[in-house]
Amino acid sequence: MHLLEAEELYRFFHKGEEEVKALRGVNFTLGAGEMVALMGPSGSGKSTLLACLAGIDEPDGGSVKAMTVSMTRKPELEKTRLRAAYFGTLLQKNNLVGHLTILENICLAQSILRQPDVSRAQEILKRVGLGQRSESWPAELSGGERARAGLAIALANSPPILLLDEPTGEVDAATEENILSVLQELARQGTGLVIATHNPAVAKAAQRTIRMRDGKILDV
Ligand SMILES: Nc1ncnc2c1ncn2[C@@H]1O[C@H](COP(=O)(O)OP(=O)(O)OP(=O)(O)O)[C@@H](O)[C@H]1O
Ligand SMILES: [Mg+2]
Repeated sequence: MHLLEAEELYRFFHKGEEEVKALRGVNFTLGAGEMVALMGPSGSGKSTLLACLAGIDEPDGGSVKAMTVSMTRKPELEKTRLRAAYFGTLLQKNNLVGHLTILENICLAQSILRQPDVSRAQEILKRVGLGQRSESWPAELSGGERARAGLAIALANSPPILLLDEPTGEVDAATEENILSVLQELARQGTGLVIATHNPAVAKAAQRTIRMRDGKILDV
C-alpha cells in the first residue's frame, strides 16, 4: 500500500489577467519508510504540491489519496479530520499560535484527535532539542528554534506521513544534523516523509530526490 498517491495534479493561480500554472500534471507516490527530498528552483511548485497533498489546498484537477482514502473534493471538516489522523505538516509559513507556549502549541495539535498528552509532548520537544523551551512563547524563539518547534508540532500525533517545507531553513550545522537524524529515525520506523528543500544535505540524507521545474516533476 502507498501512504500517498497523487494523480495528475493541477493547480492554477490567477492574478488579474495573468495565470500562474503552479502544478501541471504531477504524479507522485510515497511508500512507508520512504524519505523523499523535493527540490527545484524557487517558484517551481514545491510548497503548492505539499499543500495539495495534505488537503490544505484543493487542486484544480487530479486526485490525492492518503492511506487509500481520497483527500480531494471532500468537505473541509472531513479533510481536517483526515489530515489530523494521517499527516504532520511543517509549512514554510509559521505553524505556531502566538499566544500559546511551545508546549501548549503541541497539546493543541494533539487535542484535534484526542486528549492532549503533556509527557509525550515534552518527549517530542526533547527529541528536537527544545526540552528547555517548553514554556517559551513563539516570539521568544530564534528562527532555527521556531523551525524545530514547528517540526515538534508536526510530530504531535505520530502521523504516518510527514510533509515538511524547509525544516532546516535557518539552523546551524549541528542542529541540521540533529534534525536529519530525527527524520531518518522516523523513516526507519516506517514514517513516509516528503521534504521540500534547497539544502543538498537533506537530499543526501533522503533515499530519493524528486526535482520540480515549472510545476512539473522532471524525469529522473
Ligand atoms: N496563493 C497564491 N496565489 C497566487 N500565486 C501563488 C500562490 N501560491 C503560490 N503561487 C505561485 O505559484 C508558483 C509556485 O509557488 P510555490 O510556493 O509552490 O513555489 P516553491 O517551489 O515552494 O518556491 P520556494 O522554493 O521559493 O519556496 C509561484 O509562481 C507562486 O508565485
Ligand atoms: Mg516553497
